Amino acid sequence: MRSAAVNAGIPNEYLTIALETEAASIYSQYLKFAKGDTSSPTLDVLKPGTKYMMVDLGGDTADVTVHQKCDDNTMEEVLLATVGPWGGNSVDDQFMKFLIESLGKWVFEDFKRKHMKDYVDIKRCFEAKKRSFKVEPGGVIRMSMPQTIRKKFDEVKSFQEAIEKNEMLKCVKCSTGKLIMDNCLFGSFFKKSIDGIVKHIDEILQAPEAKGVKIIFIVGGFSECLHVQDSIKKHFGQVSVIVPENAALAVLKGITCNLMFCQL
Ligand SMILES: Nc1ncnc2c1ncn2[C@@H]1O[C@H](COP(=O)(O)OP(=O)(O)OP(=O)(O)O)[C@@H](O)[C@H]1O
Ligand SMILES: [Mg+2]
Repeated sequence: MRSAAVNAGIPNEYLTIALETEAASIYSQYLKFAKGDTSSPTLDVLKPGTKYMMVDLGGDTADVTVHQKCDDNTMEEVLLATVGPWGGNSVDDQFMKFLIESLGKWVFEDFKRKHMKDYVDIKRCFEAKKRSFKVEPGGVIRMSMPQTIRKKFDEVKSFQEAIEKNEMLKCVKCSTGKLIMDNCLFGSFFKKSIDGIVKHIDEILQAPEAKGVKIIFIVGGFSECLHVQDSIKKHFGQVSVIVPENAALAVLKGITCNLMFCQL
């Protein structure tokens, strides 16, 4: 990696290679509320000896590690970063799996090949719904479906019928070109990744190296998801779960903080 960066023109002496969780850990040291609010348990993260967990929820992966603040103001990695496939993109994968199962693999693949722009529009629309999703009983999510996909499925059977044939999925309807999903169905697309994240954090908290961890920092784009935040907070009520402001940019901001610190 280093030689690739040097070949790309970055002088070796200016190059520091860090894990995303390390950069985010640096950012956590600079959080305003951690410094300002003396009653907050987050203040502990600045005290030498404090152990805390960093969880970086990205697109492809969730990375988890445990750090400890040292006397000389540096951080030590007390548990190596471990990674699992529970990033935000796995929610998209579950939605696509639902479409494929409901409408048929070959029809769907044919639609994708012939109407790539519409396929990308569906993905984009799903991304927007994913970002604004909140678990509210009785709510529904409406997603427009491009005419091309509706036509395609009409060739096989009516779109409505195709969707409803999936016995497991009683919570979806089609009306005037829109897919209308109950919140419970939409929430189920998150289940695999949230269960994976929670189980992994739980296992790490049991490790002897993680003994004494009272703070979990959650960062990365997927950490901005309220459903993810709520699920983690609900499962780990005994520790402080902190999602910093600009959590999606924590890695980038950590790198910037470090650069500024090095220049002082
Ligand atoms: N508000 C939000 N609600 C739900 N998901 C979100 C939100 N904001 C971003 N995401 C998701 O976060 C993911 C991207 O996160 P991030 O930018 O941290 O990934 P990355 O660093 O590129 O990926 P990786 O670390 O896995 O290489 C995407 O799956 C995106 O849909
Ligand atoms: Mg990332």
